[in-house]
Amino acid sequence: MWEKLKTGSVWVVDFGGQYNQLIARRVREANVYCEIVPFQRCMERLTAAKSGDGKPQGVIFTGGPSSVYEAGAPGLPREFFETGIPTLGICYGAQLMAHTLGGQVVSPDFKEYGRVRLHIDDPYGAGLQESNREPGEDGTDIFPSELFYGISGEQYCWMSHTDYVAAAPEGFIVTAHTDNCPAAALEDRARRLYGVQFHPEVHHTPFGQQLLRNFLYRVCGLDGGWTMENFVREKIGEILATVGESRVLCALSGGVDSSVAAVLTHRAIGDNLTCIFVDHGLLRKDEGDQVMEVYGRQFNMDIRRVDAAGRFLKKLSGIEEPEQKRKIIGNEFIAVFEEEAKRLGAERGDFDYLLQGTIYPDVVESGGGGGGAAVIKSHHNVGGLPEEMDMKLLEPLRLLFKDEVRAVGEELGIAPELVWRQPFPGPGLAIRCLGAVTPEKLEIIRESDAILREEIDAYNEGLFALTGIRDYEGRGAAAGKRPGGAAIGEAPGIRLGRAASGEAPGIPVWQYFTVLPNIRSVGVMGDSRTYDYAVGIRAVTSVDGMTSDWARLPYEVLETIANRIVNEVGGVNRVLYDLTSKPPGTIEWE
Ligand code: XMP
Repeated sequence: MWEKLKTGSVWVVDFGGQYNQLIARRVREANVYCEIVPFQRCMERLTAAKSGDGKPQGVIFTGGPSSVYEAGAPGLPREFFETGIPTLGICYGAQLMAHTLGGQVVSPDFKEYGRVRLHIDDPYGAGLQESNREPGEDGTDIFPSELFYGISGEQYCWMSHTDYVAAAPEGFIVTAHTDNCPAAALEDRARRLYGVQFHPEVHHTPFGQQLLRNFLYRVCGLDGGWTMENFVREKIGEILATVGESRVLCALSGGVDSSVAAVLTHRAIGDNLTCIFVDHGLLRKDEGDQVMEVYGRQFNMDIRRVDAAGRFLKKLSGIEEPEQKRKIIGNEFIAVFEEEAKRLGAERGDFDYLLQGTIYPDVVESGGGGGGAAVIKSHHNVGGLPEEMDMKLLEPLRLLFKDEVRAVGEELGIAPELVWRQPFPGPGLAIRCLGAVTPEKLEIIRESDAILREEIDAYNEGLFALTGIRDYEGRGAAAGKRPGGAAIGEAPGIRLGRAASGEAPGIPVWQYFTVLPNIRSVGVMGDSRTYDYAVGIRAVTSVDGMTSDWARLPYEVLETIANRIVNEVGGVNRVLYDLTSKPPGTIEWE
């Protein structure tokens, strides 16, 4: 079974560092399965894991905001280091390892932050030029640090710390230093304990992925069995074994997670999966039809579209307060879904399972956070679990990060423009239509948003041709042409010569849409006065939506968008660009 894929796993023990999920993603990118385990639960889980299956083959300690000298600082008992599990401590994790085992951690007067020159030492006398020599290859038993295999001499690394290890514990040897940090890397080869003061998981440490791979493959002896191809094959078998002949119900929204979960499950159980697509009338232009075309016709899935636009509009009528809008939409969604499920159940018998597109970041328990974060917006995800429904949960993507979900989607043959779809909020256009929602205002958003997406898709495609980075709602290379007829890469604002001249070509726009701020202003069109709506453009760069910056779109791109919106969308005479980062703003306007 697919459990095999997970054996030989790694635990990323979380000490509250901001990069805990990033470390886990890097491990997965090295094709090794890993889980994030809060430090408080580490010993308890180790005790529970008898040996074999549940026990990790390697452990990575994350960084964290504490100092080992603080009262109540997160830590692990000394016994942990006697388990014989290969361990790599990063930043705070390295300090904790050194401190627990009798080394010296100090708080110097300075902080080391940013890109720093790293000198890799040669404590074993193996010769720096020979750092990728295999152990014992030339008949000697002198070989370099496994961690720095293939990495030698001078490198750059990313530092972000106050405390550091001043003296390594007994049995440890220093393997790298910086001008300010005497033990930037240390190891006890015999006990397979390793520590690095810098952050190998961030891109600013260019050799970081190689170092992590060295730890996973050379120190822990893992192999790279965790691939999405294997995942799909094994997961299909697992779903079939779990579900058998039972019936499964899914709320399909057209978003990446629910779509990938549905296609995967459909591969396993075919028509025993029924999807309900609640069309709340708040989707983008042509989106509802696209969902039916792709998943209904191409993938041949059993999808029931419920046209509930009228119901939602009626409930939303006259409602201006953003939170109230979100709650109404959330509740109405569940009501429609339940009614439809009941109707379908009466038709063909009840459903045993509810399929959900839950992904790993939704289920990670954090070890460091104090919890109690302020609720900024109630993020109701359409597809949320109706509480009274008596069904078992099926969550096949529960262990995957977003980029892995996309890779599974591609593996399953879902088109790139759907797999790389930008985030779209459950409450849809209602929260981009400030004030009361009306059909007229929704139409303006839909049309202006379609124009904006055409233009920014073309811009992103041009960047993709230059940089090879695709991290946005790409149309897929097959789309080829923008509506104006110019080939991708010739879209306005992208000069192919720029890369050659060494100037940065720009960052792909991560999320982009229009909003209607509910303002009307005076304009002039032809010889007549107009009194029409202003449309706002929101276009941001981001990694995960937690923070974002406004996209530095070239003026030419903005000009084309603004001209097209005013000329092509009725009822609009002005276009605004939102220059707010998050924080202090949020990405959506409501
Ligand atoms: P904010 O506006 O909080 O949005 O900066 C961060 C990201 O979350 C998306 N978003 C939502 N996604 N249901 C969702 O599934 C929601 O209710 C919701 N509200 C915001 C938003 O589009 C952005 O990507």
